Amino acid sequence: MTAKVIDGKAFAAGVRAQVAAHVTRLKEENGIQPGLAVVLVGEDPASKVYVKNKHASTIEVGMASFEHRRDASISEAELLALIDQLNADPKVHGILVQLPLPGHLNSELVINRIDPAKDVDGFHISNVGLLGTGQKSMVPCTPLGCLMMLRDHHGKLAGLNAVVVGRSNIVGKPMAQLLLGDSCTVTIAHSWTKDLAEVCKRADILVAAVGRPEMITGEMVRPGATVIDVGINRIERDGKAKLVGDVHYESAAAVAGAITPVPGGVGPMTIACLLANTLTACCRANGLAEPEGLTA
Ligand code: GUN
Repeated sequence: MTAKVIDGKAFAAGVRAQVAAHVTRLKEENGIQPGLAVVLVGEDPASKVYVKNKHASTIEVGMASFEHRRDASISEAELLALIDQLNADPKVHGILVQLPLPGHLNSELVINRIDPAKDVDGFHISNVGLLGTGQKSMVPCTPLGCLMMLRDHHGKLAGLNAVVVGRSNIVGKPMAQLLLGDSCTVTIAHSWTKDLAEVCKRADILVAAVGRPEMITGEMVRPGATVIDVGINRIERDGKAKLVGDVHYESAAAVAGAITPVPGGVGPMTIACLLANTLTACCRANGLAEPEGLTA
């Protein structure tokens, strides 16, 4: 069997087009323009690239983009004051503080200062609790993107065995909560899991989010399973720089029913879902119906 390739790049373009259509409608019918504020502290090169891409995508769907760049030497009090200012700004519907922050800043304190209704990353402790108790929340972008692709591929997810490899707060844990919310039987596996291959092999849905290049191989995949690869690992092979996932693509694709490639799978969905979350936050802030198909 050769797996169907789930084209995340095309899927993300579709999500962005839906978001753009909602933005146009909000402007025409309600005179509202959704706005996203991104805060970047310091000069981390990867973070600068992410923030630049977020800005371009935000503009492209017709939203307002507010970029706040601050020197790495900013004090915690100054950064908290900036968050307070964005919380109070009615033009700002979503706030994202790019991580990691420089070491002298307490990330938890900063993230938890964001108004939970504007927390488009879904990292605020209130949103984590709301998601865990099955209530309406802001949902972390990467797992939301994975859920959208899984719903699209399977239709209903109820009753399927889902195994999430990785227990990070950004991907693994919220992914497990979302799958549970869709009535999957969920297992969270991690570096201490006994017989990982056997656990993975039970999965109808296998989500790899461990951050270890090509750790999940074809022998660990149940024939016909859907494999979602969240990994983005930069490695060197045959003297060339290469981007690989947490899944060994060739061997897994030979067994799986469907698989996301790296690059072009989960990656492009993250920013698309950030825009979807900003739209959702804007609709909620204005007492308007939430966009269908773009939320958990
Ligand atoms: N740094 C890397 N990924 C992310 C993300 O999803 N959100 C934020 N805020 N920072 C990040």
